[in-house]
Amino acid sequence: MSEQTESETPFTPVGPANMLKPGESAIIEIEDDSIVLVHLHDGYYALENRCSHDNGPLGQGRLVGFEIDCPRHGAKFDVRDGAAKSLPAFRPVASFPVRYNEDTDEIEIQYKKPEPQAFEDPRGFNFNFT
Ligand code: FES
Repeated sequence: MSEQTESETPFTPVGPANMLKPGESAIIEIEDDSIVLVHLHDGYYALENRCSHDNGPLGQGRLVGFEIDCPRHGAKFDVRDGAAKSLPAFRPVASFPVRYNEDTDEIEIQYKKPEPQAFEDPRGFNFNFT
């Protein structure tokens, strides 16, 4: 069986278009995985709810502009693409495409289980997380 390509990955409805006001976020579950859904003035964004530093619950963090901070040690991530914006995190978190379905008036996420990330230690000790 071949792997699903990005364009074949289905969108999963997660709730009505007005489920969050701009500036709000929520933690939702897709395929038993925890996702942070964020509504900003320019649209919805979705990230995995697991900090790349040490698995902190990003969805419990503070949202400021386009950044969400991890409640455990304060790393910041860009909600638009999951990029790490401050230490102690330096690896991104997975982000997922979000769309509005006019026919159903629902928000949908194109969720694909993130691949395990290789850890690249600046000192040369490298590991694979699974
Ligand atoms: S677990 Fe998120 S900054 Fe440490």
